[in-house]
Amino acid sequence: MARRKMNFNANFDIVMETLNSPGLLLGSYDAAGKANIMTIGWGSIGTIWGIPVWTVLVRPSRYTYRCIEHSACFTVNVPSEDIAGYCATTCGSRSGRDVDKFAECNLTAERAPSVLAPIVAECPIVYECQVVHSSEVLPDRLADEILSGAYVDGDYHRVYWGKILGAYAEADARERIRGR
Ligand SMILES: Cc1cc2nc3c(=O)[nH]c(=O)nc-3n(C[C@H](O)[C@H](O)[C@H](O)COP(=O)(O)O)c2cc1C
Repeated sequence: MARRKMNFNANFDIVMETLNSPGLLLGSYDAAGKANIMTIGWGSIGTIWGIPVWTVLVRPSRYTYRCIEHSACFTVNVPSEDIAGYCATTCGSRSGRDVDKFAECNLTAERAPSVLAPIVAECPIVYECQVVHSSEVLPDRLADEILSGAYVDGDYHRVYWGKILGAYAEADARERIRGR
């Protein structure tokens, strides 16, 4: 089914629900042009600096970190129910350093229309983003309750703010994400 451009904040409810569980797929290319995806459970969509922005958090230990540092682009892909299981398994535990997750999950990498990052063709909602700012999470400025929960091993996230250059949805996106 063909994807159509959508307003960046359309389908906000279902995208945030899916981010919470089972997660969304963050797409990027490595320096050699290999497409990679990883599961994210934290992030937000909003307006910052007067532009539509996806904010995502990536730990330096992730291969995705190296990819986004190189390309300064990423995609956010909302999985349909039939592929959502990969968020908890392959895409949320295996690294693109060791495995081609697209091949492993039988997913198709498609070059995003306007940025240097791969879209997951099977996902009914996708966003393409250009990094406009990034910053480390600073432990000495973080609430203790978060520090002790999310950062027991350090590996402080880098926060990426990506200008949303395109947001696209298939007509039956909501049904496919909910699996009905
Ligand atoms: C539900 C779920 C949510 C996750 N959310 C994040 C996240 O927001 N940021 C992050 O850095 N890692 C997150 N992870 C971990 C990465 O997806 C995982 O380490 C992945 O294997 C990294 O792949 P890569 O090395 O190819 O980048 C999450 C994992 C799961 C299962």
